[in-house]
Amino acid sequence: MKKPETDPNGRVKRTSERMSQSQTQPTMTDKDPSASTNVDTLLGRIVVEQGLATSQEVAHCFEVQRQTAADSKEASLADLLLSNNYVTHRQLDRLRREVEAQKSTQQIPGYSIKKKLGAGAMASVYLARQISLDRMVAIKVLPKKYNSNVNFIDRFYKEGRAAAKLNHPNIVQAYDVGKAGEFHYFVMEYVEGGTVYDILTKKGRIAEKDAIDIIIQIADALHHAHEKGFVHRDVKPKNIMFTKEGVAKLADMGLARAVSDIEAAKEEEGRAFGTPYYISPEQIRGEVNIGAQADIYSLGAMFYHMVTGQVPFDGENPTAVMHKHLKADLTPPDHVNPKLSAGVAEVIEMMMAKSRRERYHNCRDLMEDLRLVASGAKPRLAHKEMDLSGLTGGTMIAPEQLEDSGAMPAMQPAADYGSPFNHPAVMLLLILLGVSLLGNIIMLFVSMTR
Ligand SMILES: Nc1ncnc2c1ncn2[C@@H]1O[C@H](COP(=O)(O)OP(=O)(O)OP(=O)(O)O)[C@@H](O)[C@H]1O
Ligand SMILES: [Mg+2]
Repeated sequence: MKKPETDPNGRVKRTSERMSQSQTQPTMTDKDPSASTNVDTLLGRIVVEQGLATSQEVAHCFEVQRQTAADSKEASLADLLLSNNYVTHRQLDRLRREVEAQKSTQQIPGYSIKKKLGAGAMASVYLARQISLDRMVAIKVLPKKYNSNVNFIDRFYKEGRAAAKLNHPNIVQAYDVGKAGEFHYFVMEYVEGGTVYDILTKKGRIAEKDAIDIIIQIADALHHAHEKGFVHRDVKPKNIMFTKEGVAKLADMGLARAVSDIEAAKEEEGRAFGTPYYISPEQIRGEVNIGAQADIYSLGAMFYHMVTGQVPFDGENPTAVMHKHLKADLTPPDHVNPKLSAGVAEVIEMMMAKSRRERYHNCRDLMEDLRLVASGAKPRLAHKEMDLSGLTGGTMIAPEQLEDSGAMPAMQPAADYGSPFNHPAVMLLLILLGVSLLGNIIMLFVSMTR
């Protein structure tokens, strides 16, 4: 694509001014020769990135623009894209917003923006080069609309700075937070191998062994974060990324959210595999004390999806899905995918218990069970012993998990009588035997004395 800096007529700047009159030209304290600061260049690049036109077509528009400039009737790139039917008016409006956001990121001192990586509900993410350290990073840029939400911006900085102190091989490393122009941004490690969401979209589900391996890595990341006082609150397939080497990493750790969990979940209307599929019951209820076990529930819901190819609860809309998280019985994962081991199904069911007291107490316990299942053994905590006599069985829950809960596990563990002679039935039998023996002795004595 023709770069406007090389335009001998120097006309491109005027075009840029027409496209976005309110913007001043970006300034970068660390000038990177590869980073263009021109709005038309950005527009041309985004049009190609989004597949609206080929690079040759955009180059042709620039050529026409140069000719029109020479005739003093310079056409803007936007006009040329429209007149060539490469974009519609609506697309152009969207593109203008995109250009504005990307232009802002070029003002971030020390970074040179390469391309847009994607956008989520809250922000856009860009690939950039950190010039000083010569490394690629990902930068999440908040839209301007959040600037007036002082409380959120405050949390964004506080949590971002705290997250930058976390260091774990399975957590996407947070590097920096800051403000450039009117945009707040969050700089983090660039992870290039895609997400669990991408795999599920492509393949439907993930083999049990691979899924366990991923969940152990993320449980380890969560355990580290929980120990440091963080709760993620948004564990979902889009937030599990992979490095080129296949290491799983938890993204968005320490990224404050502008809205409540339930509002975020409701905003997912119409999005495939969004937050309402993985949100915990206590987050739905809007409880204040959201802890590690909310993340364990979400991780369990994602695990369910990974190994069965289905979300645990589906519905017409986010509200219906959330209602099921609160009330509906979970279809056991091994009923959906009969190839699953009983152990993995038991672990998932325990992770997804509606009452947090019946879930794993922490990720260390969860990892212990997952490692047992991976080795072909039964999970220690989640295993349910079926005994038809009704005397044994039940989900074994550590006593500390029942503390101040008032909630009882689904079934009580078997009573420990120590010796069989201590069992009430055996004792009753012995008493009856004793009484009968005594009766016989009395009868014998009476008959002998007659
Ligand atoms: N650290 C990163 N490295 C590489 N790509 C990233 C990184 N973080 C995010 N992305 C890309 O940017 C996209 C948007 O990420 P973002 O976290 O804003 O939204 P999300 O997690 O996909 O969804 P939501 O906003 O609904 O939580 C992701 O889908 C991913 O493709
Ligand atoms: Mg994310």
